[in-house]
Amino acid sequence: MAMAPPASAALAVQMMLIISWAAAAVPVLAAAAASLDTTPVTFRARYMPLFGGDNLAPSPDGRSVRLKLDAQTGSGFVSKSAYHHGFFSASIKLPDDYTAGVVVAFYLSNADVFPRNHDEVDFELLGNRRGHEWRVQTNLYGNGSTSRGREERYLLPFDPTLRPHAYAVAWTPTAVISYVDGAPIREVVRVPAMGADFPAKPMSVYATIWDGSAWATDGGRYKVDYAFAPFAADFSSLVLTGCPAAGVDADARCEVALMTAGCAVMTPAKRAAMRRFRRRFLLYSVCHDSYRYNGTIFPECDADADGRGGFHRWGESKLVSPTRRGYRQQRADKAVAVNVAADGRPSTWPVGGALRAD
Ligand SMILES: *[C@@H]1O[C@H](CO)[C@@H](O)[C@H](O)[C@H]1NC(C)=O
Ligand SMILES: *[C@@H]1O[C@H](CO)[C@@H](O)[C@H](O)[C@H]1NC(C)=O
Repeated sequence: MAMAPPASAALAVQMMLIISWAAAAVPVLAAAAASLDTTPVTFRARYMPLFGGDNLAPSPDGRSVRLKLDAQTGSGFVSKSAYHHGFFSASIKLPDDYTAGVVVAFYLSNADVFPRNHDEVDFELLGNRRGHEWRVQTNLYGNGSTSRGREERYLLPFDPTLRPHAYAVAWTPTAVISYVDGAPIREVVRVPAMGADFPAKPMSVYATIWDGSAWATDGGRYKVDYAFAPFAADFSSLVLTGCPAAGVDADARCEVALMTAGCAVMTPAKRAAMRRFRRRFLLYSVCHDSYRYNGTIFPECDADADGRGGFHRWGESKLVSPTRRGYRQQRADKAVAVNVAADGRPSTWPVGGALRAD
């Protein structure tokens, strides 16, 4: 089995990248009293419809959007601008009852601009049969690395159909960190051996609902049943704090603010919270899958991070298994809440909206 670098080596690489990058940016840094504004935006200010006609419906105040899937079409929206790194979040309330085959996605992509070598960072929420839990999948691609999927799948510590929960991604030059309700669930640290597989070109932000019957639920065994349509997902608290894709000066300042903001910095407490989440909810990780790529494990994987022996050779957890809907609420909330403030952000984040670079 290919050995991944230990956590400390990966961290050292990340620190080197930060330090060398920051050194280059010092003149700009001095000039920048930078802060990142994480106030939610209105739909019309920063997003536009992508497809689905009337199946996309912004609320009258523009602060939330309903996306529906019916037998005619799914629906989706996209940011008006592309961004080069940033923090992107949406609170999503998912449809209940029978939702097998339904995919609700919140993701970054530039496939429209680079059809053959696109980058992508994904949150995919996968519906299920009545009484079975929704699952979450994260993934990323860089420069068209679509033959090297980096999937992970998780259960959720709550019933995502009862109220909105925040799904967020911090994408920096050195890492992609995925969050659920402010708790980090995955950190992909960029290591040199990843080469162009790490997403590096400007991307737009997308939200979609669509028919994923071919694969979404138990590998395609359970398909969308339009007797239960329409399927409606409500998006709110749209946070879109991206660095501009163009404009060197603005970009550098923004990246300093981003990389020193709470969402981009993994403290020991946040790593511990992430380990707790993964121990309870990680169903599958490509980092533990020694069959998929013929014994090759990706260079950014830390085989020890999730504890040894907890996974089958095909990447599925021996300890976490899909259940009928139950959401083990108390146990899970307790596990994840330690590092999370009342508004769902990690407690290390400043309350009141702005992530400061000071
Ligand atoms: C990305 O892909 C394009 C097209 O295949 C290729 O020309 C380019 O060299 C790649 N970039 C990197 C950094 O590998
Ligand atoms: C998988 O690895 C074996 C042993 O190294 C090799 O013989 C085989 O060609 C590989 N298969 C693929 C599809 O790469």
